[in-house]
Amino acid sequence: MEKIFVKPNGPLKGSVRISGAKNAALPIIAASILGTEEIVLEDIPELKDVEVITEVLRRLGLKIEKNKNTLKIDPRGLNTAKTDYELISKMRASFLVMGPLLAKMKEAYNSLPGGCNIGSRPIDLHLKGFKALGAEIEMTHGEIRATCEKLVGAKIYLDFPSVGATENIMTAAVLAEGETIIENCAMEPEIVDLANFLNKMGARVTGAGTSTIRIKGVEKLTGCTHQIIPDRIEAGTFMVAAAITGGDILIENIITSHLKPVIAKLEESGAQIIEEGDNVRVIGSETIKPLEIKTLPHPGFPTDLQAQFMALLTQADGQSSIIETVFENRFMHADELKKMGAKIKVIDREAVLLGKNKLYGSKVSATDLRAGAALILAALVSEGETEISEIYHIDRGYENIEEKFRNLGANITRIDV
Ligand code: UD1
Repeated sequence: MEKIFVKPNGPLKGSVRISGAKNAALPIIAASILGTEEIVLEDIPELKDVEVITEVLRRLGLKIEKNKNTLKIDPRGLNTAKTDYELISKMRASFLVMGPLLAKMKEAYNSLPGGCNIGSRPIDLHLKGFKALGAEIEMTHGEIRATCEKLVGAKIYLDFPSVGATENIMTAAVLAEGETIIENCAMEPEIVDLANFLNKMGARVTGAGTSTIRIKGVEKLTGCTHQIIPDRIEAGTFMVAAAITGGDILIENIITSHLKPVIAKLEESGAQIIEEGDNVRVIGSETIKPLEIKTLPHPGFPTDLQAQFMALLTQADGQSSIIETVFENRFMHADELKKMGAKIKVIDREAVLLGKNKLYGSKVSATDLRAGAALILAALVSEGETEISEIYHIDRGYENIEEKFRNLGANITRIDV
């Protein structure tokens, strides 16, 4: 079993290039099912989750060639609407093939999705959308089957702006007859990237990035070349790395407008942020000020950076509070940070941190993807060695994480023990 070992090594300094966004790559790869000609995707991060979704597509009959960070996808071989159970159960995002399959094949079979263990993560809103477009849904023994004679545009109001549901409904609706309007939809930058990709293939999607998306159905989508947006969560993780170690890091390939709440909170904590075109320099301060953070759907503070900020706030001078409103069970990293010496009280959806705490290298476990990143960040400023297990979670979402941290001066190694 592989583990990551981290020893403190002073402030991190240097530059790091941010990879393409996992959460944009996954729905876009899934949406390639909709095409009728070759699709070239650039800046696809080399990650476990990407491997899983490409394998799902291969087993559906698509031809995929990978050359480092470029994928060439030929969707013409699509020959089944039944996804592979074993693969789907590995990753929740595999459920994103449902919309494209339903649009293209008029049916889609899937098992109930797996993924990070952060709350119940239902799929009711995805199914509500499919039904509104005219699909029938059958659920038996953990399997879902969606079928339709044809999909017809509809007005769909989402009770919560779910990212996955918005994406699945968009990719189902692009080939539907007539117009679909998704209200109270997710506004994440990854939704905008998906819309741009679909439009390059001939779709007619407008309003992505606002709370109402309109989709005029077209008869077919073709192919295109598309470059994935930079990963704002990876960028945010390295920004916190600069802040927590009192370092000075130039973060390259970043879209700052995607990171407004993160930049605002880091500045509030005392860090200096200097924007230089596509790059951002983050200079940590000697004293970290406490923060009040509340996670929200975009453009609010991202839940995917909540754990990393919790690591940061263990080093703040005074009491901080983090309220998690997006997921119901996303504080598992608090227990791991407590093993390292953090003083954190979790009551329901609020974590209160009593900083500043001296942290000690410990044996801890990456309870989910972002929790794993938070433990690396905490380990950078802990006395002694930290041993992180269950690191397959980290590999689901961070490309070359040790190499990137090592290039900044961190003492981090991966060992198969
Ligand atoms: C996506 C991201 C994930 C991020 C999350 C929130 C991908 C691959 N993953 O996950 O990294 O943490 O957005 O920003 O892009 N919900 C329902 N019913 C549904 C669907 C969701 O109640 O049908 C609830 C969930 O339980 C959760 C909340 O909505 O509490 C947010 O989920 P959602 O936005 O759907 O997240 P994902 O798309 O799974």
